[in-house]
Amino acid sequence: MKNSFKIIEKIFTAPVIPEGAGAKVRRIIGAKDLRRLDPFLLFDHFSTKLPGGFPDHPHRGFETVTYMLEGEILHEDFKGNKGRLYPGDLQWMTAGKGIVHAEVPGSAEQESVGFQLWVNLAAKDKYCDPEYQEIPKESVLSVTHEGVTVKIIAGEAFGKQGPIYARTPALYLDVHMSPYSTYEQVIPKGWNAFSYLYKGKALYGENKQCVETDNCVVLKQDDNELLSVRTSSEEAKLILVAGQPLNEHVVLSRMFVLNSIEELNQTNEDFKKAQNGFEGAHGWESEITKMSKAGEIDFSKCNR
Ligand code: CO
Repeated sequence: MKNSFKIIEKIFTAPVIPEGAGAKVRRIIGAKDLRRLDPFLLFDHFSTKLPGGFPDHPHRGFETVTYMLEGEILHEDFKGNKGRLYPGDLQWMTAGKGIVHAEVPGSAEQESVGFQLWVNLAAKDKYCDPEYQEIPKESVLSVTHEGVTVKIIAGEAFGKQGPIYARTPALYLDVHMSPYSTYEQVIPKGWNAFSYLYKGKALYGENKQCVETDNCVVLKQDDNELLSVRTSSEEAKLILVAGQPLNEHVVLSRMFVLNSIEELNQTNEDFKKAQNGFEGAHGWESEITKMSKAGEIDFSKCNR
């Protein structure tokens, strides 16, 4: 078989929309061009600084993956877990049966820039215990081959396996390509995949379709396994994410992702009554939200 290259389904420019408290995000998954891409529910390229951010809010039934490019994000949950993410750091948070947390930028001057991906959990995993997998920059596996550096967060590239255990099988790569380089990546058969170019220009697919900064490329869910990306005179930085579709009914209500309306109603009740995973959520307010409201983040209290 000659052509085993993956086919491009569509290319679009991700829109910029307001989110959280005064944050701006470029929404790649979750807006009109790409509502969902099973198992992914949302993918944002965020940029925020104090007093903006994402004050106390709950999650259930999925995972949030935060990958930082610039600045800092402080986080704190209702069980007392807290920390600070620096450029290059990654947090893969499994909300499972319930998390209430805040995510707040660490500066009023410098923008905190990064990506947040929401990965759905299968029905069998929705009520698992919450878990954090935090990978500091130094531990994110980085492999360079012929002008292409791949930071492997989850899944496999250049024969190496990333550090994350993904309950819903997934691939998450940050790829830096120098000018006139070629990158080929295997994407498992039947998986959904997209790529977001956040810097420079690149040519995707066998037909070398031109993709520019802030463009998202959605790949066809076909039997071909190889994605091909090339650069010409400009470098390129891109995120490549792929995942095994769950093929389950999705009921998404802002911060909760369930399989049925009944489960969603139960979740709203669990959160209201602080039960079944939301124990302790009543009246809880994070220190970082209190401090950011008062305009006085105390960085010394937030060391990871
Ligand atoms: Co959150």
